[in-house]
Amino acid sequence: MRRSEANVDLTTAVGSVNLPNPVMTASGTAGYGSELCEYMNLEDLGAIVVKSLHADKWEGNASPRLHPTPSGMLNSVGLQGPGVKTWVEEKLPSLVKANARVVVSIWGSTVEEFAKAASLLKNMPEQVVAVEINASCPNLEDRRKLFSHSVQAISEVVGAVNLLDKPIWAKLSPNTPELPDIAEAAHKAGAEAVVIANTVLGMKIDIETRKPILGAKRGGLSGPAIRPIAVRAVYDTYEAHPDLPIIGVGGITNADDALEFILAGATGLQVGTATFGDPRACKKVISGISNWCKKHGVERVSELIGGAHDR
Ligand SMILES: Cc1cc2nc3c(=O)[nH]c(=O)nc-3n(C[C@H](O)[C@H](O)[C@H](O)COP(=O)(O)O)c2cc1C
Repeated sequence: MRRSEANVDLTTAVGSVNLPNPVMTASGTAGYGSELCEYMNLEDLGAIVVKSLHADKWEGNASPRLHPTPSGMLNSVGLQGPGVKTWVEEKLPSLVKANARVVVSIWGSTVEEFAKAASLLKNMPEQVVAVEINASCPNLEDRRKLFSHSVQAISEVVGAVNLLDKPIWAKLSPNTPELPDIAEAAHKAGAEAVVIANTVLGMKIDIETRKPILGAKRGGLSGPAIRPIAVRAVYDTYEAHPDLPIIGVGGITNADDALEFILAGATGLQVGTATFGDPRACKKVISGISNWCKKHGVERVSELIGGAHDR
């Protein structure tokens, strides 16, 4: 059989979590997952990462919450959600039924709130493969500095949720030059992997009203506009900590984008904003990676991880 006809091995290991392929949804961009059921078999994805959940119901920010930008969008949704308990009762069963691999994302504005959200996630079914900590939210106990902008805060928050029997992934912010140190601190505190990265802080001003357009004024920039920032952030972190599993996210719309992240050092990938434009985006990225590997004689996608670094 010629190499171009053989199946490519797309499997990847994110720490102790084995996935059939590296491509997952990004938190907050595919609802709670089941919304994608009509477009694909959820089992075919690496995993579904659900929208970040607070321990309690959360209303989110004032509208408007979304604004299109060149090559991306600004959002200030403000982590609206039903709370962990309601999600477990009302949303999780359909994901379990679909046999999806589920990553539950949680957030809080204090360490205690993170711990409370985690405590509601005990005894999860086997389909829940990991818990992602969205550490890119303001810490009310530290001058509203993001948890992922402080070595101490990231250590505390990872430590506080490290009571679960599921692997922990820490989702970090690209808005700090100390990212590799923060990633290392998250790992030392118990995170098996880091997710790099969340949105880049931004703003749009309406020149007629002379005011910021978003209800919350500031928002998170996502989409292709941030891809070079996210690729660089993954590259920096891998260079500093080559043994730390990294999940790359930021502006992935196709297989070429995904391969950049893998070569920068990502063992897993998440697709966010692209799903709004095309609900089948994740699936297309998976088949595109496979086709690229066939064309280039690559048997296992894992061979490419970190390939852009000097050896
Ligand atoms: C509308 C919207 C909502 C989001 N909500 C969350 C969230 O709840 N939790 C989280 O960790 N990230 C959230 N994100 C960030 C994405 O998961 C992702 O990190 C970011 O958008 C960069 O990836 P992308 O360019 O592929 O969208 C959100 C992004 C968008 C656009």
